[in-house]
Amino acid sequence: MSQHEIARRRTFAIISHPDAGKTTLTEKLLLYGGVIQLAGAVKAKRGRASAVSDWMEMERERGISITTSVLQFPYRGFALNLLDTPGHADFSEDTYRTLHAVDGAVMLLDRAKGVEAQTRKLFRVCKQRAIPIFSFVNKMDRAGRDPFDLIGEVESVLGIGVFPVTWPIFRGGVFRGVWHRLARRVYLFDAGHAASSAGLGAERPPVEVAGIDDPLVRAELDDEGYERLKHDAELLELAGDGFDREKFLEGALSPLFFGSAINNFGLEAFLESFCELMPPPRPRATDQGPVEPARDEFSGFVFKIQANMDKAHRDRVAFVRICSGKMTRGMKVTHVRTGKEIRLANPSTFMARDRTVVDESFPGDVVGVHDPGTFEIGDTLTGGSTFSFEPIPSFAPEHFARLVMVDPLKRKQFARGIEQLAQEGTIQLYHPPAGRAGDLVLGALGQLQFEVVKYRLESEYGAQVRLEPVPWQLARWPARADGAPLDLDALSDAVEGMVVLDVRDRPVVLFDRAWALQTAERLHPEYVFGETATGV
Ligand code: G4P
Repeated sequence: MSQHEIARRRTFAIISHPDAGKTTLTEKLLLYGGVIQLAGAVKAKRGRASAVSDWMEMERERGISITTSVLQFPYRGFALNLLDTPGHADFSEDTYRTLHAVDGAVMLLDRAKGVEAQTRKLFRVCKQRAIPIFSFVNKMDRAGRDPFDLIGEVESVLGIGVFPVTWPIFRGGVFRGVWHRLARRVYLFDAGHAASSAGLGAERPPVEVAGIDDPLVRAELDDEGYERLKHDAELLELAGDGFDREKFLEGALSPLFFGSAINNFGLEAFLESFCELMPPPRPRATDQGPVEPARDEFSGFVFKIQANMDKAHRDRVAFVRICSGKMTRGMKVTHVRTGKEIRLANPSTFMARDRTVVDESFPGDVVGVHDPGTFEIGDTLTGGSTFSFEPIPSFAPEHFARLVMVDPLKRKQFARGIEQLAQEGTIQLYHPPAGRAGDLVLGALGQLQFEVVKYRLESEYGAQVRLEPVPWQLARWPARADGAPLDLDALSDAVEGMVVLDVRDRPVVLFDRAWALQTAERLHPEYVFGETATGV
């Protein structure tokens, strides 16, 4: 039973830059999965005044918007787990961490814009993990860049090979459909139908063809479109290699698809290939060797913690990615870091606003469990074993601010709140090493995180704070190149930056510009300055 359940799981995230169409694509995937019946059922994120107010509104409503959800939906016998990466302006470490819980990613590109900044950052995390990455070029119904041009950009900017699985065909210069190179099918786009349809059905049933020379293809296209397709096909053949599955599985080759999410076009061709190519959950590394998903014993790790999802209960939910065995309602598990036994009373899945208690979950699934305050990001849960999954790295923040308490009488609330938020991973918190004077400094990947921290400290903990600018622009986790223990005084003397400690008391150097970091690297090869930190 478990084997079958594992084999049909596909756990992934969509990575993209704001506006590429992630919300639209997610919604359409849910429509295909039959989870929602109507386009627009997913809380629209359009027309929001700002991401901050949206977050606060979400806070007020006590709902979970699609941006924080784990969506499970069926598709042709597969069970797809889409872990939505909180994106957009509320870009935060959570986004990176979520990528540690998936087995693959879909990189969504806007046809007109190609590879954009946020996509590049998210891609780097996927690349570090060497997970399979699919590419989907969206908005093909609009004018945009030449497909070859886009491929060239993905290959050169991201340093990954690309294998176009579908290829766009045009009639009169207008997007007409896609040719599926592996399935030997042509999918035709019915623009008229698409415009009149809010739901599915913009796509005509695919036509099986022998190849692009098939008369059926010829009949659909005008001379110009047909010549273009022939010419493109020749170029693709020249570019040569077939689809190399091994390279794909290690994240070195990305199968590429074209379509238009809003028009429902190219999604079926994509979904079919996605389910077929994307691997089910694979073994996960631990400090005691890899753990197979089919192992009987339950295991999983916490990759996200969210507090106060339900203000009435002031609860904290830990999101657990299951790696092996089966999680059942009410089961007892071992919390490896503390050695404690914990009962998982009501493991839940989240679908937009609704929380559903689940009886059984399998490797690849993500469940939310009640967190009595025990969990930290990266914690391992098992059925009794003492192994730990590889730690989830912390990522160097890009924005910094000094945190100042406004009302000294609220010191206790302040300390509790800030510790909670740092544990939750909402923000990175730096403090001076023991015996040294200094301020508390916050580090974040996105500016919005500061606003969220300020707002939550006030509304949830009653502690007012002020954020002041600091000169820091870069954070790095230092280590000795020879592995020897760090001497903080020697390090402070050597670098032109401020030495502080993170919440786990790991040393961090804050630099005010890239030049200071480069100088430190050049003059002091005895140190390495890490962009991520792992371990305790
Ligand atoms: P995001 O979550 O990645 O930020 O993107 P979202 O889905 O919100 O899409 C951003 C905009 O792009 C939306 O337009 C959406 O309708 C549009 N879009 C998505 N897919 C396609 C596509 O295949 N073709 C075209 N032409 N547009 C697409 P908007 O103007 O911001 O919102 P709305 O007024 O359309 O609702």
